[in-house]
Amino acid sequence: MADIDSDASRERYTHGYGATSDHMARRSVESIGSFFVGYLTRGQSLLDCGCGPGSVTLGFASYLEPGLVVGVDIGEGDIKRAQSTASDQGIDNVEFQVANAHALPFQDRSFDAVWSSGMLEHVAPPQTALTEMHRVMKPGGLLGLRGGDFRGHMWTPSSEIDRVMELIATLFQLNGADANHGGEQPRLLRETGFEPLDISASYYGMDGRECLELCRGILLNDQNVGVLRDAGLADEEELSDLLGTCDGWARESDTIFFQAWWEVVAKKPD
Ligand SMILES: C[S@@+](CC[C@H](N)C(=O)[O-])C[C@H]1O[C@@H](n2cnc3c(N)ncnc32)[C@H](O)[C@@H]1O
Repeated sequence: MADIDSDASRERYTHGYGATSDHMARRSVESIGSFFVGYLTRGQSLLDCGCGPGSVTLGFASYLEPGLVVGVDIGEGDIKRAQSTASDQGIDNVEFQVANAHALPFQDRSFDAVWSSGMLEHVAPPQTALTEMHRVMKPGGLLGLRGGDFRGHMWTPSSEIDRVMELIATLFQLNGADANHGGEQPRLLRETGFEPLDISASYYGMDGRECLELCRGILLNDQNVGVLRDAGLADEEELSDLLGTCDGWARESDTIFFQAWWEVVAKKPD
């Protein structure tokens, strides 16, 4: 297991929890993981690194049953929520535990496959977490990686939401994360000993209300209000006013927002 270095100990998770966890809980293997599912075989074991509230992890458990699927995350609330959903759904080939991706609590070569979506853009440096994923995979195992890239997001119509997106991208950088991380994945994978096999991209669409709910959850969480205030970018009242001016945008019937995601399947060589 790796030591957690000083960069990692300064890391702050930009999305926070609460409304943003509700957003993550609406994701499924079918909506975000189809590029990886075809590479997997029933009975294999899989680690979901940064599993959030676990909806996607549970989907993998159904595909791989009786293979063991393990979800880890640093968010204790999300892990409790994932455990409770697994128990409600009667899924018993899944386990969830609190763990930091920089120091995974598993033996070398434990898993046939590893999946990680939307986490590496928040960790600093991502190489430490990728090295840990490499360590816990069996030789010949496959990694499915999905990473966002603010350079590709698009929305219509243009409005004050443009400023909201600029502030969120700046927050990522202020929190030690990388808003454009997705495009770095192929290079990072090669540097950590993986062999990229398949690189694709996709969009995740949402209506204005869902988009604004997510933005509100990010900009108004206590940690980020402090970060933006200390950077001299906006105080809480200014943030609330800015988000308030986007209410009309969110309700317009033609409003739509697309998040851009890089998707990579990579192999740990035999
Ligand atoms: C954007 S969410 C993605 C959740 C889920 N994978 C999905 O795609 O819906 C990112 C998750 O990564 C987790 N995370 C951030 N830094 C982490 C770290 N160092 N170790 C483990 N999990 C981390 C957060 O707690 C959060 O649940």
